[in-house]
Amino acid sequence: MIFAAILAGGIGSRMGGTDTPKQFLELGSKPVIIHTIEKFVINDNIDEIIVLTPKNFINHTNHLIDKYIPNHKNIVVIEGGKTRNDTIMNSISYIEENHGIDEESIIITHDSVRPFLTHRIIEDNIEAAKKYGACDTVIPATDTIVESINAETIESIPVRDYYYQGQTPQSFNIKKLFNLINSLTEEESNILTDACKIFVLKDEDVHLVEGEVTNIKITYPYDLKLANTILEDIHD
Ligand code: CTP
Repeated sequence: MIFAAILAGGIGSRMGGTDTPKQFLELGSKPVIIHTIEKFVINDNIDEIIVLTPKNFINHTNHLIDKYIPNHKNIVVIEGGKTRNDTIMNSISYIEENHGIDEESIIITHDSVRPFLTHRIIEDNIEAAKKYGACDTVIPATDTIVESINAETIESIPVRDYYYQGQTPQSFNIKKLFNLINSLTEEESNILTDACKIFVLKDEDVHLVEGEVTNIKITYPYDLKLANTILEDIHD
């Protein structure tokens, strides 16, 4: 089976100015999270879409889905976790309890606040996760990367050609991800804020999938303005 996990368990503290997490703010005529879910709804290859939100937003999310995506059949809303990785773990536990974990199934994990992912990116993720067991969506770094340990002086300037900016989706063979997460020590789990990093730490290959510059993450208020501009541009 192919699952999508829409990660919406965060509170958007860097957005500021509102108690509503950024995934529920309006972008054009509907909430950010609806734009994101719709991208997965229109992909016939996906068997189930698991949306993970803070506990007190589960009802609200169900109402939004009923309002904007009335004929949905394969969307479930469950509680996210304390950290982003915990939210991913909740989606795996849900799959384990409701479907069992087999050898082939894959999961496409995606930030709810990246509403502009494309059909091509989803298809490439499915193909790469099936073939290689893990993949990350990235774009080449455009700015020079400067490393500083003390935030005062430069430690090094790495060769830019070797550096990429991570986006999402990140997609995995579920069994592989499940086994790797369960093999982590407590210390490792505390530092592993990124699911792909777990694979890298355990010497497992993670394949690169080409992202898009428009696949932005809404983090700060400026990003929401930028998202509105991208939306207008798409509709032109
Ligand atoms: N996320 C999640 N569960 C968490 C934390 C984050 O599912 N416990 C999700 C967010 O909802 C978001 C994505 O992970 O869709 C990317 O994280 P980020 O932009 O850092 O979101 P927040 O944690 O909400 O933002 P902030 O760090 O500003 O509080």
